[in-house]
Amino acid sequence: MPENTITNRSHSPEDNRQIQFNIEIHNQVSAKYESRHGEIFNTIEQERLRRALSTAVKLIRTNSAPLTALDYGCGTGNLTSHLISAGIHTTSADVSDAFLNIIERNFAETGLSKTLKVNGTDLSNVKDACFDLVATYSVLHHVPDYLRIVAEMCRVLKPGGVIYIDHEVTESYFDRPKQYVDFLKKAKPRINFNRYLRLLLDVKGYVHILRRIINPRYKREGDIHVWPDDHIEWDKVEQVLNSQGFEIIHKQDYLLCKSIYKTDVYNEYKNVCADERVLIGRKS
Ligand SMILES: C[S@@+](CC[C@H](N)C(=O)[O-])C[C@H]1O[C@@H](n2cnc3c(N)ncnc32)[C@H](O)[C@@H]1O
Repeated sequence: MPENTITNRSHSPEDNRQIQFNIEIHNQVSAKYESRHGEIFNTIEQERLRRALSTAVKLIRTNSAPLTALDYGCGTGNLTSHLISAGIHTTSADVSDAFLNIIERNFAETGLSKTLKVNGTDLSNVKDACFDLVATYSVLHHVPDYLRIVAEMCRVLKPGGVIYIDHEVTESYFDRPKQYVDFLKKAKPRINFNRYLRLLLDVKGYVHILRRIINPRYKREGDIHVWPDDHIEWDKVEQVLNSQGFEIIHKQDYLLCKSIYKTDVYNEYKNVCADERVLIGRKS
């Protein structure tokens, strides 16, 4: 990762390839996305998310009514549904048409929902200073130049508007502190028959195993920055926010509750170790 934080590197053929792969793969997985992501669509994570978003909304100082939000990399509408439930006019943006179609199907009749197709590198089809809230959840690690996208999110916020970045791993995730390692040992079932059976029956999955053998960095859902030597660098995200005149108001590491974890072990460790971060900042 280069030293300067706000990169404006040109859109390379490799970036294009990665974005195109993300589009194709997310179009394919869109129908099964929620059932595959039990770590997101469970009551514990949904309640944490609802509360964190509500904190973000309360921090908005734009004096606008009604409020408007951009959900960047919306997927099936994990954030969108919370924002719309809070009465916020929400633009759900994604590179995948299949996800945007799901959003239209599920939220059009609320009268609060719009969709926006983005190119995966910038928000060039969005005006400056037009949203009260820009939120993103589990997306930055898919974006080749993620610091540029953070800068773009800053640009499209009004003064007094709030940026909400959630569900990217904390640095300590890669350091594997002892408590976290102990947690994982205790929380995961020793033999996960369901997982093995699913893998065995997933004939299409064999293609992915083959791709992984050819390229050890291959990730089925197009994750890019998820390696010890290339992951989301939160200090650089903060530098971008600071350089754009943002105050970091809330930063919290949390332990994600995956559906495979034993609940009693999760409860024992949820305040002891963490693997994900949420960060909320406000534009001056
Ligand atoms: C892990 S999913 C998260 C979806 C949703 N935010 C959620 O909370 O469930 C990643 C999302 O980012 C989108 N995506 C992938 N690459 C992107 C890019 N370069 N720019 C914008 N969105 C992207 C995918 O289509 C997908 O909807």
